Amino acid sequence: MFPNEGMEEEEVLNELRKKTALDLTFNSGKILGSMCTYPHLLARKVLWEYLDRNLGDPGLHVGSQTVEGEAVEMLSNLLGLDKGYGNIVSGGTEANILAVRAFRNLAGVEEPELILPKSAHFSFLKAGEMLGVKLVWAKLRKDYSVDVRDIEDKITGNTIGIVGIAGTTGLGVVDDIPALSDLALDYGLPLHVDAAFGGFVIPFAKALGYELPEFDFRLKGVKSVTIDPHKMGMVPIPAGGIIFREKRFVEAISVPAPYLAGGKVWQATITGTRPGANALAVWAMMKHLGFSGYREVVRRTMKLSRWFADELKKIPDVYLIREPVLNIVSFGTRNLEKVEEELKKRGWGISAHRGYIRIVMMPHVRREHLEEFLEDLEDITSSRL
Ligand SMILES: Cc1ncc(COP(=O)(O)O)c(C=O)c1O
Repeated sequence: MFPNEGMEEEEVLNELRKKTALDLTFNSGKILGSMCTYPHLLARKVLWEYLDRNLGDPGLHVGSQTVEGEAVEMLSNLLGLDKGYGNIVSGGTEANILAVRAFRNLAGVEEPELILPKSAHFSFLKAGEMLGVKLVWAKLRKDYSVDVRDIEDKITGNTIGIVGIAGTTGLGVVDDIPALSDLALDYGLPLHVDAAFGGFVIPFAKALGYELPEFDFRLKGVKSVTIDPHKMGMVPIPAGGIIFREKRFVEAISVPAPYLAGGKVWQATITGTRPGANALAVWAMMKHLGFSGYREVVRRTMKLSRWFADELKKIPDVYLIREPVLNIVSFGTRNLEKVEEELKKRGWGISAHRGYIRIVMMPHVRREHLEEFLEDLEDITSSRL
């Protein structure tokens, strides 16, 4: 009910505290199945200071617009491009939708089709439905990466583009992007890489010596990349990134916004009014941590993943779905749903989907949390549910 009279601030806050007491928090160590994390303190400070900035009306906040441009440039550089085009957006979903929209608008075919791996994130379901693009699903190979030959078989005159994934949501698998890039070039099609998760992991993991394929603009067929600072970038939600290789992709999704207080601009995002503070936080975090800072975050989380995978193997009845590629470890067991239910009862923030439970080693996850989790898992799986 809409309140007639207002309450004191402290009363409001107390009521909120009571209501949110049921929430799981990242610093409790109980959230093991999320790609979000406790935001870095610096990013929180930036948000607090710049909460009023609206990048939907950049004429008013010209300085913030410049900072967003610099953030896009830094992300582009990380992804192997001197100059890229795009925006800091609300997340991987918006970024993927924008890429599909650009491909569709440029292709100009009547019955557009997009070919994507079966492992693709559900954001593409939204993109397909909203944009009237038929999704053509390609098979996966035994190692859960996309079958490039199956993609080729599915190309038709209606194909507007191909999607590859660098860090799948379920298993952290990196598709054979070099092969997809060659294929895209052969057929004159644009390739979109969904690196919403992997974008802030793979460049650093490669620098640490992990063997991972090229996945970004260093490959000529790659025309757009989704990269999410609000995942491994440790920026508060919402902060996604869409980067295009060429300006024409952004132009293909730009609409005029004529009546803004700051003057007429062209918008290439789905949201109109949008948080400047988060874009500034993306910029601030990259400046603050730098390549070496993120590399250390990735070093710890990758190491933890390998240790955790080895510990899982010691539990009878528990098996790995595949050896970890990035900092995601997924496992199966008998009576998976019952095990999930029991783990949830014990307060763990995990979920079973596609036949396995996925643990994401985000920066807030520590070895002691995982030890506690392993104890619970062993206890539950040995109790013959
Ligand atoms: C590979 C991938 N793409 C896209 C998304 C969607 O991102 P968001 O939830 O930020 O919209 C996710 C989210 O987990 C993801 O894992």
